[in-house]
Amino acid sequence: MGLRLGDTAPNFTADTTEGEIDFHQWLGDSWGVLMSHPADFTPVCTTEIGATAKLKDEFDKRGAKAIVVSVDSVEDHKAWSRDIEETQGCAPNFPIIGDTDRKVAELYDMIHPNEGDTSTVRSVFVIDPNKKIRLTLTYPKSAGRNFAEILRVIDSLQLTDNYKVTTPADWQNGDDVIVSPALSNEEAKQHFPNGWNELKPYLRMTKQPNR
Ligand code: BEZ
Repeated sequence: MGLRLGDTAPNFTADTTEGEIDFHQWLGDSWGVLMSHPADFTPVCTTEIGATAKLKDEFDKRGAKAIVVSVDSVEDHKAWSRDIEETQGCAPNFPIIGDTDRKVAELYDMIHPNEGDTSTVRSVFVIDPNKKIRLTLTYPKSAGRNFAEILRVIDSLQLTDNYKVTTPADWQNGDDVIVSPALSNEEAKQHFPNGWNELKPYLRMTKQPNR
């Protein structure tokens, strides 16, 4: 069975472009974003690695670390990194796991044979500081990921872990949020002294509390 939300992210040891790691130790108290890439020296992956590297400050702001896996060797990853710096204007600033034995790809069910071959699809796992899987996304090999969406969901998870709210469709950090449907109006008054706009008893909009 595949990994589900709320499962503990499986631990592993692996060789990476930044040396040998124990995944859970490497995560420490951070959020983690583990992403698979079908292969080195391929066009979409090259743009994605560059995009991830350029977003380092955004990951840092959220206490999150990026790490990527491809079933090629660390030696290949290092050679490819030079192409990424040259073509994308930013060298990888996070570990790239060498997974020639497909240990990590298989552990995280990243190879979907009906998608054409035995390379990985573009999986995303967002992992919280308790090592729980909080978001999974699976993209086809032909479509590069939307990194703004990954950051947006981390923002939502961090907000909703700390406040009694949920976030509506297409929410962006700073937009109005939904008072948790689990709260009665009496309880909601304690948490939202400035009130809310009740569109329906189950749909109460309020200002984002940490703004
Ligand atoms: C790419 O990154 O461009 C790619 C890799 C594997 C299959 C298809 C596209």
